[in-house]
Amino acid sequence: MAAYDIVIRNGQVADGTGKKLFAADVALKGDRIAAVGAPGSLKSENEIDATGKVVAPGFIDVHTHDDTALIDNPTMAMKASQGVTTVVCGNCGVSAAPYLNTDVGHWMSLIIKKKENVSKDFAGFAAKVEAARPAINGAFLIGHGTLRMNAMGDDLGRVATAPEIKQMRDLLDQSLEQGAIGMSSGLFYAVSNAASTDEVAEVAAPLAKWGGIYTAHMRDEGDHILKAMDETFEIGRRAGAEIIVSHHKCSGRSNFGRMVETLPKFTDAMKQQQIAFDVYPYIAGSTILRSDMLERADKVLITWSDKVAGMSGRDLKDIAAEMGCSMKEAADHIQPAGAIYFMMDEKDVQAAMAHPGAMIGSDGIPFDAHPHPRLWGTFPRVLGHYSRDLKLFPLEDAVRRMTSYSAQRFHLTKRGEVKPGFYADLCIFDPATVIDTATFEKPIAPAKGIDTVFCNGAIAWRDGKPGGGRAGRALNRQAMQDEAKA
Ligand code: ZN
Ligand code: CU
Repeated sequence: MAAYDIVIRNGQVADGTGKKLFAADVALKGDRIAAVGAPGSLKSENEIDATGKVVAPGFIDVHTHDDTALIDNPTMAMKASQGVTTVVCGNCGVSAAPYLNTDVGHWMSLIIKKKENVSKDFAGFAAKVEAARPAINGAFLIGHGTLRMNAMGDDLGRVATAPEIKQMRDLLDQSLEQGAIGMSSGLFYAVSNAASTDEVAEVAAPLAKWGGIYTAHMRDEGDHILKAMDETFEIGRRAGAEIIVSHHKCSGRSNFGRMVETLPKFTDAMKQQQIAFDVYPYIAGSTILRSDMLERADKVLITWSDKVAGMSGRDLKDIAAEMGCSMKEAADHIQPAGAIYFMMDEKDVQAAMAHPGAMIGSDGIPFDAHPHPRLWGTFPRVLGHYSRDLKLFPLEDAVRRMTSYSAQRFHLTKRGEVKPGFYADLCIFDPATVIDTATFEKPIAPAKGIDTVFCNGAIAWRDGKPGGGRAGRALNRQAMQDEAKA
């Protein structure tokens, strides 16, 4: 009899592929799934009874800003509590490495709270993550905006020159060689908005050589979204890279309903090149406070303000009324700050989530004082609210969009399935009770119905608190590609 470390008994397995639930025991040994067998066929001195529960692969949060949260908050409670076992960091054009400057300005401070967490090269950063022994895994993109700050300093309101492009390209090449999984861009943001399509495509060129991914917070998610999609697809083609469009949405009331244009456009483009996108299950987005975004939002909540105390969690309309000024003036007064914008149509959000190209990503911002509830709620909300209660898709398909599909698109080798030989990243949850509890009013709250979460065979979360397991890794592109070939 094989000596297993743990056997999870009597559960219903959602194996991540979308296959119908089946009754099985799951055995773990070391950091791997050792066996999946008929109920009662696998034995260990250490057993977990999963009667009435679903045993799924650990969820992969494909869109995060958790780069340095993995170092500062290594238990990663906001993600482990949701069943998340891997976070893809460095999205939207901003990453903690490679960063050559000594000053962490406003933009970089969104993801970095401690100066010592930045690194001049990716290898140094990955070593810091591993040294922190986080409870869950991280995979890392390199931000085009961060590359720009390295090459161009504060002079960001223009297209990069040829030598600057070369410097950015070389930094990306080196980072990919050291294990980063791709490049992200955020052409929507001031840091990168002046970049041309050519600039991004030329910087992204090393992606082809290393098999890196290109993720894009597109230049426009509102009136000009179709043009922005064309630009994104062109950059991916020219860089020879697979594409993930980030947090797909049609933003602003005048764009409600336009998923009927964007989704068929995705469907068509997916026949030509490898494209997918991520979605978070809410009608509100969140980022820095920008006065040009006020008009398109039905409601604006403040997530943090460095300048004025007591703003976090408040409606900007109330703040403006209190100050006796316009919302724009109130926003100017409390800058720099962050905000939540109610700017999407529920039907659009559901249509995007159910599209064949969709996977789930939270886009949670880990250091906000009053964060968007997606930081703590995304995955249980998809399982409980959208799949079970609204029946948007079956549970097996919800799990697939959080696990195997995500692992395939991001080339996370041997993750995202309950299968012998795969890493023991698992989430045991109660399908009848799983639900998010984080709200816009009270956003810091662990979900209900998540029982036990394993990452690399260690318990990252159990019974409503961190499980003590600290076996997360900085996933390395080269190591994953080698393992895929072996
Ligand atoms: Zn973004
Ligand atoms: Cu983002």
